[in-house]
Amino acid sequence: MMDGELAGFAIPRLGMGTMALAIEGRPDRDTAIRTIHAGLDAGVRYLDTAWSYYLPSEPGTGTAKDLGYGEKLVRDALASWNGPRDEVLVATKTGYRRTMEVPAFVAPVSDSPESDTQGRDSEGCSRRPGEERQHLQAAGSQYGWMADSRPETMIRDAKESALHLGVDTLDLLYSHGPDPAVPYEDQCGALKQLLDEGVIKYAGISRVNNEQIDLARGIIGSGLVAVQNQFSPSHPDPEHTMEHCAELGLAFVCWSPLGGFLDTFDQSAYDPFRTVAAQRGCSYQRVVLAWELTRYERLFTIPSARNPQEINDSFAATQLQLTQEELAMLPC
Ligand SMILES: NC(=O)c1ccc[n+]([C@@H]2O[C@H](COP(=O)([O-])OP(=O)(O)OC[C@H]3O[C@@H](n4cnc5c(N)ncnc54)[C@H](OP(=O)(O)O)[C@@H]3O)[C@@H](O)[C@H]2O)c1
Repeated sequence: MMDGELAGFAIPRLGMGTMALAIEGRPDRDTAIRTIHAGLDAGVRYLDTAWSYYLPSEPGTGTAKDLGYGEKLVRDALASWNGPRDEVLVATKTGYRRTMEVPAFVAPVSDSPESDTQGRDSEGCSRRPGEERQHLQAAGSQYGWMADSRPETMIRDAKESALHLGVDTLDLLYSHGPDPAVPYEDQCGALKQLLDEGVIKYAGISRVNNEQIDLARGIIGSGLVAVQNQFSPSHPDPEHTMEHCAELGLAFVCWSPLGGFLDTFDQSAYDPFRTVAAQRGCSYQRVVLAWELTRYERLFTIPSARNPQEINDSFAATQLQLTQEELAMLPC
């Protein structure tokens, strides 16, 4: 019950998100590597990263020197791990980048003193001058996120992801999220092209509704294997995208499965889990993850951790069989 198939890998359905090891609040690099090793030693076989897991540079400091930090961290952790590297599915995402809170004016690429040889500014962006794009800001963070999912950007960044990760072909690449400035079919077309060219083995999509899932499936076909959407007790799935994935036979991967750490959320949603955890004598986070695994037999959950203890605690959810009585106390 706790194992599943994803992108050709038969693996535990509890993987590890590595975002918290690569963005604001991240631990030092040695701790981050030890945390990934602890997860792998415990049995994690799915590592989730993204092209955009890095910190943007202060405007005016030149190239975005942190670009690729998160993916290179995963590469280096796998290279220095003593276990079976071939058993580990590494998924990454394309189509997002980081921004400073107040995006600086981006001059035309050829004139910009801040652009690097790839024509990007200090945030890793390749925007056209004056171009407005979706901008997401986490509460309390000086950094933001921005979609740039033009097909040419997605394809270029995917090839960079392979270089960062030190692989010829990416196991699984998600489109990070819809970009309001780009028709969704064009984003799906980019994933299809990457599949056809052998840059990626499988495709996934993220932050999507049912309509976008259907659109992607029509364009990408059987190469589309997973949907990564937000799901946790504090962020249920109002559009029932998980049910739609079940109807279509797609894996559902939940992001921020413990509510996330960037934005505040309704803590009371976790009270029933705290009650069960108190009876079990374990963390409520472990109960949350075990509960998520009961939601759908092809659900994968990918909690972040910032130290070895957290991922060890979380992975133990794969051994926690909740009883019918306990499940009756939790949301259905
Ligand atoms: N597709 C997307 O757009 C998207 C968006 C967001 C995230 N993601 C993916 O989802 C992954 C997870 O999401 P997330 O990083 O937002 O947050 P999360 O998994 O919900 O975790 C939030 C925080 O909970 C704490 N924690 C984790 N395990 C714990 C344990 N066993 N006991 C106590 N505390 C624990 C950690 O914070 P402390 O270190 O502060 O204790 C962790 O950073 C990311 O790494 C990323 O791969 C994807």
